[in-house]
Amino acid sequence: MDTIATSATADTTVSNDDFLATVAEKSNGAALRGNYEKADPQYVVAQDWDAYTEAEHELWRKLYQRQMELLPGRACDEFIAALQMMNAADGIPKFERTSAELFAATGWRIVAVPGLIPELTFFEHLANRRFPITVWLRTPEEFNYIVEPDVFHDYFGHVPMLFNPIFADYMQLYGKGGLKAMKLGGLDFLARLYWYTVEFGLIKTDKGLRIYGAGILSSGGEVEYCLKPGTPSRHIHLEIERCLQTLYKIDSFQETYFVIDNFQQLFDGTAPDFTPYYERLKQLDALPANTLLPGEVELLP
Ligand code: PHE
Ligand code: FE
Repeated sequence: MDTIATSATADTTVSNDDFLATVAEKSNGAALRGNYEKADPQYVVAQDWDAYTEAEHELWRKLYQRQMELLPGRACDEFIAALQMMNAADGIPKFERTSAELFAATGWRIVAVPGLIPELTFFEHLANRRFPITVWLRTPEEFNYIVEPDVFHDYFGHVPMLFNPIFADYMQLYGKGGLKAMKLGGLDFLARLYWYTVEFGLIKTDKGLRIYGAGILSSGGEVEYCLKPGTPSRHIHLEIERCLQTLYKIDSFQETYFVIDNFQQLFDGTAPDFTPYYERLKQLDALPANTLLPGEVELLP
């Protein structure tokens, strides 16, 4: 799941009209994909699994198979093990089944949403251990590339990592941190951390670098690209404040991948109060996405 910035203040719900108006403004009038008519105040809808067509299930199977050819030796073990347990290769899964398994494992649930949702709502879901998943699937023309997150990205990319207890706790704290950042004017900074960890994170293992970021794991091209030696992209050790300062690419492969040693380090590194970080960062220029600072070591040749 990803979000779109809104002008919402720290209210408990966001009016649909406000949200749609903000989206229209930010996207030069482009319509938001998905049907928001039946969404509840937290933007939750029914998955309506019976409405998926056989062609959509077939497209899901193709997406799934393509990723499975790429992931061995590239995705982290935690992701692969959980994905296998999820039994989701045969078609678009019923969220309820996975949600029950996930709840038993880490206390997280899946909720269905129409598509992008307001940041405030997104953070509230995470803070309450609910992961929002878009109900619709991309079209066949979008097999290789899709702008907005769809059910394949949200489910395949994100849910497996939520079976990991430490990562699951990190995601909840991220949600709480998001609510706090909204009040402190820190959202632009905090969003970079989500991007470079939850979406595009790499982890060091004794077998080499592995992927845990959902944006890579659900992508046809970036799985191979991000671990290939000799590309112009950076692979550097994650330092939290440095990451919060770094711009990212939304329309190309990443120019920097931040690498963690383990999930505990991610959890511990983000535990401190970010208030002073935000105060410092507001005084500084953001770093371009391809920055390499003096003293930083590139972890891939
Ligand atoms: N510790 C951060 C704060 O005080 C919140 C946070 C936790 C952010 C985990 C990201 C991940 O704002
Ligand atoms: Fe995502």
